[in-house]
Amino acid sequence: MRKKVIAGNWKMNMLPNEAISFIEKLAHMVEKTENEVILCVPYTDLFYSLLTAQNTNIKIGAQNMHWEEKGAYTGEISGKMLKSLGVEYVIIGHSERRQYFLETDEIVNKKTKAALKNELKPIVCVGETLEQRETGIQEQVITTQTKLALEGLDKEQLQNVIVAYEPVWAIGTGKTATSEDANEAIKSIRNQIEKDFGRDVSESIIILYGGSVKPENSKELFSMSDIDGGLVGGASLKVDDFEKIILA
Ligand code: PGA
Repeated sequence: MRKKVIAGNWKMNMLPNEAISFIEKLAHMVEKTENEVILCVPYTDLFYSLLTAQNTNIKIGAQNMHWEEKGAYTGEISGKMLKSLGVEYVIIGHSERRQYFLETDEIVNKKTKAALKNELKPIVCVGETLEQRETGIQEQVITTQTKLALEGLDKEQLQNVIVAYEPVWAIGTGKTATSEDANEAIKSIRNQIEKDFGRDVSESIIILYGGSVKPENSKELFSMSDIDGGLVGGASLKVDDFEKIILA
């Protein structure tokens, strides 16, 4: 049985004081859940979030990192730096990074490797655009993205990788993929992983759905055979909504 994982992605939202009070509230609400609860917060919230989340079952993640350990990369943060704070997870290759910051599959692969090297667990995002879906190439797009993101990793490393299927047209738009479509897409990602790493890996790897997950649709999405939880943007900013999704 794969564990259910609910990860919030705050994006560029929440000041440290807001992060602290959010995490304090959420910690009580989700005290008893067996699901893995992760909050991926802005860099500037990491320190306070980690302190506040100590001795709770909320895990803290970052939303991005650089692939080099140190050097002349003004404005960047390395995996080693994240690890030194006690960060556990990091989102890699979110579609907003691919779209606005021109992250390629090659960069996503380098960051995934660097995260693992620093003992961070990458949440690797893949997903097709609306245009790609409309021309019927969505499966090819997401399986290729998956293959390239994970290229060169070994089976053992895959145990610490989470994949998130996030159709770009469903992110922040209020449009959710139907649970059947999301499940099919995630099955095709699992098949690709089976081809590249074997059946044991494809059956144990956690694959999330993301894109307008909210309290009203989370239960149905998370009950599908291949969907192991969600990567939640907008609804992770409201503590009551996020609680409902976690407990769904
Ligand atoms: P959304 O974002 O839930 O606001 O659609 C999801 C994401 O970008 O991870």
